Amino acid sequence: MKFFLDSADINEIRQMADLGICDGVTTNPTLVAKSGQDFKSLLNEIVRLIPGPISAEVVGLTAPEMLSEAEVLAKIHENIVIKLPLTPEGLKACKALSARNIKTNVTLCFQAGQALLAAKCGATYISPFIGRLDDVSQDGMQLIREIRAIYDNYGYDTQILAASIRHPQHVIQSALAGSDVATCPMKVLMSLYQHPLTDKGLTSFMEDWKKANQKPIV
Ligand code: E4P
Repeated sequence: MKFFLDSADINEIRQMADLGICDGVTTNPTLVAKSGQDFKSLLNEIVRLIPGPISAEVVGLTAPEMLSEAEVLAKIHENIVIKLPLTPEGLKACKALSARNIKTNVTLCFQAGQALLAAKCGATYISPFIGRLDDVSQDGMQLIREIRAIYDNYGYDTQILAASIRHPQHVIQSALAGSDVATCPMKVLMSLYQHPLTDKGLTSFMEDWKKANQKPIV
């Protein structure tokens, strides 16, 4: 499974690049607004830090507007993936970009029918928002399972990018359900490393080593 960092915070992205577990980055207008940085300069910095797919979202609402923005964004770097909303206009733009081999991430997916339409329009990634579904008492994970089954039935190669992830169980359940990618806030990625027995075990290994007066390894 691939891990993307869901962030537009350059310090977080730098830290993730150092850890070596981050395969890409997803941004959205809210995250970019929070960063306080100019969108295009920010993308230029991100592509230098992470050598993988970087989703950059358009803000136009009609297909022609989205396509003009996509033109500018795609020129920044070959790893830029154009993020488009799951609307009729967004999917028109998706189809046009796919025909030109420009990678797309169709976002704000909340039901399997939408994911089917995105795949038909050649989306590279579909982003089901599992946390936001859970927030309104629907089962976000069931959506991932349904999309997996539908894509497998028809051999669509659109990748499932589990989004709106809130905690490590979302990552684990998405992996079990066959998501290709999970995009996570840094806090969630860091919590994947953690277990109290890991800390406890390491402390006792270190104490036993010291007690034994072993010579240093190097
Ligand atoms: C995905 O690409 C979105 O940026 C993101 O996962 C949305 O998450 P949220 O529901 O926590 O805002």
